[in-house]
Amino acid sequence: MNKFVQEIIEIIKSKIEFPPEKIESLIEVPPEEKFGDYAFPCHILSKELKKPPQEIASKLSSELMPKEMIEQIYPIGPYINFKVNREKFAEYVLQEIFERDLDYGSDTQGKGKTIVMDYSHPNIAKPFGIGHLRSTVIGNALYNIFKKLGYEAIRINHLGDWGTQFGKVIAAYKMWGEEKELSSDPIATLYDLYVRFHQEAEGRPELEEEARRWFKRLEDGDKEALGLWEKFKNFSLDEFNRIYKMLDISFDSYAGESFYNQFIEKTIDKMNQMGLTEISQDALIVNLEKYDMPPCLIRKKDEASLYATRDICAAIYRYETYHFHKALYIVGSAQKLYFQQLFKVLELMCYPWAKDLVHVDFGWVKFKQKMMSTRKGNIVLLEDVLNKSIELALKIIKEKNPDLENKEKVAFDVGIGAVIFANLFTRRNKDIDFDWDKVLNFEGETGPYVQYTHARLSSLIRKYAQPIENKVDFKSLSTEEEHLLIKRLEDFPRRIKSSAREYDPALICSYLIELASLFNRFYQKERIITENVESTKARMLLVKAVQTVIKSGLSILGIKSPEKM
Ligand code: ARG
Repeated sequence: MNKFVQEIIEIIKSKIEFPPEKIESLIEVPPEEKFGDYAFPCHILSKELKKPPQEIASKLSSELMPKEMIEQIYPIGPYINFKVNREKFAEYVLQEIFERDLDYGSDTQGKGKTIVMDYSHPNIAKPFGIGHLRSTVIGNALYNIFKKLGYEAIRINHLGDWGTQFGKVIAAYKMWGEEKELSSDPIATLYDLYVRFHQEAEGRPELEEEARRWFKRLEDGDKEALGLWEKFKNFSLDEFNRIYKMLDISFDSYAGESFYNQFIEKTIDKMNQMGLTEISQDALIVNLEKYDMPPCLIRKKDEASLYATRDICAAIYRYETYHFHKALYIVGSAQKLYFQQLFKVLELMCYPWAKDLVHVDFGWVKFKQKMMSTRKGNIVLLEDVLNKSIELALKIIKEKNPDLENKEKVAFDVGIGAVIFANLFTRRNKDIDFDWDKVLNFEGETGPYVQYTHARLSSLIRKYAQPIENKVDFKSLSTEEEHLLIKRLEDFPRRIKSSAREYDPALICSYLIELASLFNRFYQKERIITENVESTKARMLLVKAVQTVIKSGLSILGIKSPEKM
């Protein structure tokens, strides 16, 4: 906790009896300057003191005494507002960032707690879709956020590598597939086979039967079926890993759906013994009528196990393996009902940790412009999206900065950064309208805008060409713009915590946009490097702090910060 908040707590404590943690959790950072630097809402006291909050605010404000860090205390409406001593505030915030550098904002709140995260999870033999990308980048950013707060976090890629669809792919491959075509363009070939299977099966229901037989063989461990499955899986993993490499993303476990087959018998036995299951239309289900939900299918009449059954086993396995504090499923909102059912079944199985399972859902990504798709099935291929973004970034960079060395490398970082940022910036429960003109706009609410600001800060530091010191005249940093910037910097640790609380990296994105715009406004208004040595020193310390926080924020989001662009 910072010294200013600490002092506010002491000041408040001197007049009212209230637990300090409670006071801390109530203190707000007001949105507008006139409300001061911190505010304390009096609604809570109103019940106890039996007086309107406005009255309490004004009475308390007149009684509370300013101290060293806090200079002014005054009421506005139901709030008590506090103004800090700007010089001390600047000194405290800038020293802290200078000393902690990229560690600024990290915390120990998660010490000893494990968070299991299930994200990305593309499906074998199918293209890596844009929805999987959104899951991947949200998951990766949340992973960085939780690590920063001291949690142990486990990244699980719950690959879609089992299920009746594999019966279809194998059947289709046996009928129409060719080895050569498969090895030259595996995912497109497999996907075409899958699409063709569905088309042909419409007129020939016996194909479905054939697919079921293949899946049965697969579940029974038949050599040929398993061999083909493994081959398809390896081809798919090659493709997925290419994408993960571009995004610089890795996982701690690739235990996909197939991994949980070994636990299915035992789990179904347990559910039967607990009397949770019943037979309905020849299938084994858990009836959830009482909870206003459709039944959860556990086993089909042909004995095939299901997505849900494997998820039940996965949750149990994860608890037994990691003893998680929370387990997150970062999956699109299309599966909202599904996760409600899953969590309900686990609760009915009396697992106390069922309450710690969280569906971190997110909206769709819709493309404004048509993506050029060379393949059937009309699906947006992720690799094409990433490559297009890099290409567009390169074009812009060539226009803006023709002399830049390493243009390709910078364009790669900017192109990838733009796609990641666009997938995170919109609050996760909202849909995204993906528009190339917006995503790569260097002046908009985009990744490139933040990266560009970072490059501008780096260029100032290069131009200054002297070591930046932390003993400066902090009084000189008290203009409105400077104070606003320093306040934003001070807010960074709090923003990391709120994005963890809301499982939403969008809060870090909007934070970075605010910080970058504040800096750019300051930069446009004031010269930073001037003949005034003292003021230049102080401003360069501020520049360095803003650069550090932007770099750290981008890195949390999984975005690189080029020094030049
Ligand atoms: N592979 C699934 C899909 O693409 C998502 C898996 C989500 N994770 C889970 N444990 N169910 O829809």
